[in-house]
Amino acid sequence: MQSNQKVTTSINMNALHQQLIDAVDIGIHVIDQNGDTVIYNKKMMEIESMGSDDVLDKNLLDVFKFSDNQSSTLVEAMTTGKTTKNAKQTYFNNKGKEITTINNSFPIIENGEITGAVEIAKDVTQLEHVIKENVLNKQNSNFTFDKIIGSSTPVQVVIDEAKRATRTSSSVMIAGETGTGKELFAQSIHNGSKRSSAPFISQNCAAIPDNLMESLLFGTKKGAFTGAVDRSGLFEQADGGTLLLDEINSLDPALQAKLLRVIQEKSIRRIGDIKDKKVNVRIITTINEDPVDAIADGQLRKDLFYRLSVVSLFVPPLRERKEDIDILTQHFIDKYNAIFEMDIKGINSQVKKLLRQHDWPGNVRELEHTIEAAMNLILDEDTITVNSLPAKLRKKYQQESDMAVQDLLNLNGSTSENQSLKDKMTAAEKLYIQQALAEHNHNVSHTAKILGISRQSLQYRMRKFGV
Ligand SMILES: Nc1ncnc2c1ncn2[C@@H]1O[C@H](COP(=O)(O)OP(=O)(O)OP(=O)(O)O)[C@@H](O)[C@H]1O
Ligand SMILES: [Mg+2]
Repeated sequence: MQSNQKVTTSINMNALHQQLIDAVDIGIHVIDQNGDTVIYNKKMMEIESMGSDDVLDKNLLDVFKFSDNQSSTLVEAMTTGKTTKNAKQTYFNNKGKEITTINNSFPIIENGEITGAVEIAKDVTQLEHVIKENVLNKQNSNFTFDKIIGSSTPVQVVIDEAKRATRTSSSVMIAGETGTGKELFAQSIHNGSKRSSAPFISQNCAAIPDNLMESLLFGTKKGAFTGAVDRSGLFEQADGGTLLLDEINSLDPALQAKLLRVIQEKSIRRIGDIKDKKVNVRIITTINEDPVDAIADGQLRKDLFYRLSVVSLFVPPLRERKEDIDILTQHFIDKYNAIFEMDIKGINSQVKKLLRQHDWPGNVRELEHTIEAAMNLILDEDTITVNSLPAKLRKKYQQESDMAVQDLLNLNGSTSENQSLKDKMTAAEKLYIQQALAEHNHNVSHTAKILGISRQSLQYRMRKFGV
């Protein structure tokens, strides 16, 4: 008996381990150095339709057969020490029955040596889980073109192009950086088309592991693999309507090939089924980089790209249409006034300038978050000032105003060395007073309070500096 076990225990530890291993709801298969099975639990027997006598103490490769291009991740873990996570494996048991599992395999390492390997096979409950979450995640798709804010020419051009695409059912590819409004365009196209009363289903291709994506898209037939039930995929669910595939460049290339076939044949086949089913689905895809780059990087199949981009839209980044910032800002202020039951009137000129200077890598979404954050930080004012902006933007503004002080001190070619300290202090004081006034809408009392001086004192300085 091992020293760390209580001597007084009346439990037979071996029997307990065995019982525990058999009680869990995941398949466990352990092999030793020779590849012989040493642990094979009840759930694994269920998953693989095998008895313990068929497998225990036998060499794994004598019992199970793998296709030529597949190897056992369990054997791989034992021979190379490789850990595999969430791998979909298809192999055959000793009666030739095809088995598909999703499993994790890892080596057992003792004193730096691989002494065996463990495989933990999940029933496809994981798939159920993903599908359930996915259903919960589906937001309503009620965006229409009139809710896309932006009067700049670049946006109006895309809106016009997208509106024309509502008349047909051709595939649309929407390219654009994150937060530019690609989803809004996709929803607006659907809602403006004849399909508007049919489903709009949206799926992010980057959010789901490759091995589950296929089941999710095309559905499964009962018995296709362990735990598989008869279930429709997204294509069937979107029948008659629109399927939005977000971040198409994240879709596994093998699945991209299958997708291409579905588009060409206008029919799908559930995994494990032998029959094809006609589907009538309009496909809209989004991509957050230039499709040409995605093709060059091998992330997007060229043949699929041609199929998907019959209509091709490019939503410009916010920094290329800064003239839209003002109406977007007001739009979000109105939106959050309603949600927060506030009555914010707008932004001051300083903030306006700052919003124009910023590059907006997160585009409209970033602007929306900035306004929402400012409305959380605002005190009892009715106008958003620099003080209510998120720290990141405020700091940037601070740096810029520091630079402005530098510029001021170096004014008219006079180098700072030529200026007396008094001149420098006066120049700096003037600048700070100008900025403070601008930040507080030129409200003298309010600005004086912020600066910690009396109203009279501020007015005196304003006259002195000609502000
Ligand atoms: N033109 C616009 N008018 C009004 N709101 C907009 C506009 N563009 C974007 N938004 C807002 O920004 C948010 C982000 O937009 P959307 O989800 O469409 O971006 P996306 O391009 O799909 O980004 P990602 O690539 O990150 O998915 C939206 O929820 C919406 O509130
Ligand atoms: Mg999106």
